[in-house]
Amino acid sequence: MSNSQQAEALRTAMAEAAAEIDQALDLLIPPSEGPEARLFDAMRHAAIGGGKRLRGFLVLEGARQFGVGRDSALRAAAAIEMLHAYSLVHDDLPCMDDDDLRRGKPTVHKAFDEATAVLAGDALQANAFHALAEPETHADPAVRAELCRCLARAAGPRGMCGGQMLDMLAEAAAEPLEEAEIGRLQTLKTGKLIEFAAEAGAILGKAPPQLRQALCSYGRDLGAAFQIADDLLDATASPEETGKRTGKDAAAGKATLVGLLGLPRAQAQAETLAAQAASHLDALGDRADLLRALAAYAIARRN
Ligand code: IPE
Ligand code: IPE
Ligand code: MG
Ligand code: MG
Ligand code: MG
Repeated sequence: MSNSQQAEALRTAMAEAAAEIDQALDLLIPPSEGPEARLFDAMRHAAIGGGKRLRGFLVLEGARQFGVGRDSALRAAAAIEMLHAYSLVHDDLPCMDDDDLRRGKPTVHKAFDEATAVLAGDALQANAFHALAEPETHADPAVRAELCRCLARAAGPRGMCGGQMLDMLAEAAAEPLEEAEIGRLQTLKTGKLIEFAAEAGAILGKAPPQLRQALCSYGRDLGAAFQIADDLLDATASPEETGKRTGKDAAAGKATLVGLLGLPRAQAQAETLAAQAASHLDALGDRADLLRALAAYAIARRN
């Protein structure tokens, strides 16, 4: 297949996956009519109907490599998308990035209020672990425990939360961060969750250790490329393209490779990392072609 045919196959597969993930989320976050309905509404606002579903797609494609049942894989994909949606709701709060637009809609604290946004984030995170822990996700309790353990690590102080702490500290730091420090910040805040998304299918499919490791290495480099692309889009894309405010990182004093190295060098680094990501997939052969195409997409995207 040519590159453009692969890109087209990826677009189709991602659109199908996004629709399936939305259906899974609709079941995992049901509309509520009780007195706490406002919380369910806010969770649904944050998690359903939007986003590229890159992390969920990674789970599904990873799982497909090992013949995992679609319903199992979809529950894990929806779980990681709920965890990710929580991270975005909190990232957008006035005490963090103070954003009013997300996925082309008002952020949760704008559409609802701050207390509701904090609680919706908390509840999405809890729901993610609940979904992974339920027997419907996998018959083997050891697999469910391993999914929970790895997601907890990716999301916690040695993962997303740790990276978000570094991101906030860097904004207020007297000295700009060095390249290696920015790399570590981005590995934690974005890379660890994307690495877990790539690994989850191997956990579900009880894959041989070397193939599980190959997917982790792929996810690690993909995540690094993906965050540089996010920073490039902040500097070069419009809110119409991305569905979120742009041009904010420099003004806020965010530590990014775009800020440190400039656009061309940051772009080159993203390209190197994306190629490196794809190179880890050799052992999986042709069946990993969509994952290879995803690495190219991660840095070519305009949203
Ligand atoms: C945005 O993630 C936050 C980052 C970690 C870069 P995405 O770009 O995946 O956001 P959605 O899910 O598509 O909205
Ligand atoms: C956020 O990074 C990463 C998260 C862990 C949520 P950004 O703050 O750059 O993400 P956007 O640009 O708001 O989506
Ligand atoms: Mg942020
Ligand atoms: Mg932000
Ligand atoms: Mg950003």
